[in-house]
Amino acid sequence: MSVAANQKRVFLQLRSRLLPLDRRFPERLKDALSDRRFGGRDRRLYRELAFTAARLRRVWPEHDDDFIALVATACAATPDTAAFRAAFARGPGFFRQSCQSRQSPAIPDAAPRRLPEHGQGCPCHLTDGKSVPRELFPAWALEPGRPAASPATAAALLSRASLWLRLQTATPAGVAAVEAELAGRGWPVERFEALPTAWRLPPDAAVTSTESYRDGRVEVQDLGSQFLIETVAPAPGGRWLDACAGAGGKTLQLAQLLGPQGRVEAHDIRAAALAELRRRAQRGGFANIRTLATLPPAESEATEGGGYDGVLVDAPCSGTGTWRRAPHLMHCTTPEDITRAARRQRELLDRHAPRVRPGGLLVYATCSLCDEENSRVAAGFLEAHGDVFEVRPPVRTFGFAPDACGGLTILPERYDTDGFYVVAFHRRG
Ligand SMILES: C[S@@+](CC[C@H](N)C(=O)[O-])C[C@H]1O[C@@H](n2cnc3c(N)ncnc32)[C@H](O)[C@@H]1O
Repeated sequence: MSVAANQKRVFLQLRSRLLPLDRRFPERLKDALSDRRFGGRDRRLYRELAFTAARLRRVWPEHDDDFIALVATACAATPDTAAFRAAFARGPGFFRQSCQSRQSPAIPDAAPRRLPEHGQGCPCHLTDGKSVPRELFPAWALEPGRPAASPATAAALLSRASLWLRLQTATPAGVAAVEAELAGRGWPVERFEALPTAWRLPPDAAVTSTESYRDGRVEVQDLGSQFLIETVAPAPGGRWLDACAGAGGKTLQLAQLLGPQGRVEAHDIRAAALAELRRRAQRGGFANIRTLATLPPAESEATEGGGYDGVLVDAPCSGTGTWRRAPHLMHCTTPEDITRAARRQRELLDRHAPRVRPGGLLVYATCSLCDEENSRVAAGFLEAHGDVFEVRPPVRTFGFAPDACGGLTILPERYDTDGFYVVAFHRRG
């Protein structure tokens, strides 16, 4: 994908409609791109340029349109290394230094489109991953226990996210049909060996336009998100509550793993998200999912029928693990937001813990990379409920080392994912 002169002009006009970079950025972007003169290809390009611009916001001189256009061009879907170097060389202080100090380019000149190998990290054009480009992050994010504290994680968070699919069909014929359709579109598919349902596509593949997606044979779900449920390995046939289900990314995965004999009850405070969840469940042919706009009091669960086999609290969080997909959050999240999120997460865990039957699991997950929302919430919960709950070590770790609480931090640089945290508590029987 290259960027023509008129596309640069259009993007620079769009750009003014996207600021300020606050929580409404995705909404503004959607609005700006709803213009009927744009085709699908244009939309994907402008979207990616807007995301790149958001990543560079801190060092991006608003008045220097020429520089912006150059950097944006260089960072577009197929990065042009030469153009990118030129942008570095012409840019303000940070970029010039970075260009001069760099002995070898961050991405190879040859085959810039190549996806990184699994385990080799994410392609990042802004840093070589050996030192943190401090200029690009808010100061609080660089502190220990925060998302950009390590150079490798910081580099990953500045890079473009890949597109991960979760296969919802298990039959050889179904899998072959998906494979054939994706190949027919010219998209190279990479399978994640340790999790055969996870397939990676190039980031700009328009997967929602495929039959495979429309028929529910594939869903879009980040690999890191898929790991969370896999670390728990829920037993088939169980009855689970997805207490913060949103539009159901993990509900669908849970329902697939529990199988037709199992069931998932999905709750969220957002009715629109639950409506989307129902559409996705229907598309995927899941008869074992039910949405609940309200939940009965936890006490009734504990007394009637003994509660759930598993309760997933995929809690609302700062989203600091999702900066690859939501770079605006880097600019509008504050340390106070993180403290507030941690308080809410703990409240949700306390509230849902009684819904777990004796012998069952309470799974806590976030898409945050802040200790305050992760291991510290887990430690606080254990301190208060250690008489009833104990840590259940992860069944699968995918090579990540459990922390002192038995929780896993899914680091984005390792497998080209978003960042997450997950820990499972077992209710003593
Ligand atoms: C991290 S998102 C969930 C993502 C979802 N599980 C998925 O896999 O796609 C957190 C969700 O919690 C919901 N939420 C916030 N406060 C809540 C509450 N008090 N009870 C239930 N859900 C809540 C939000 O609406 C949001 O959808």
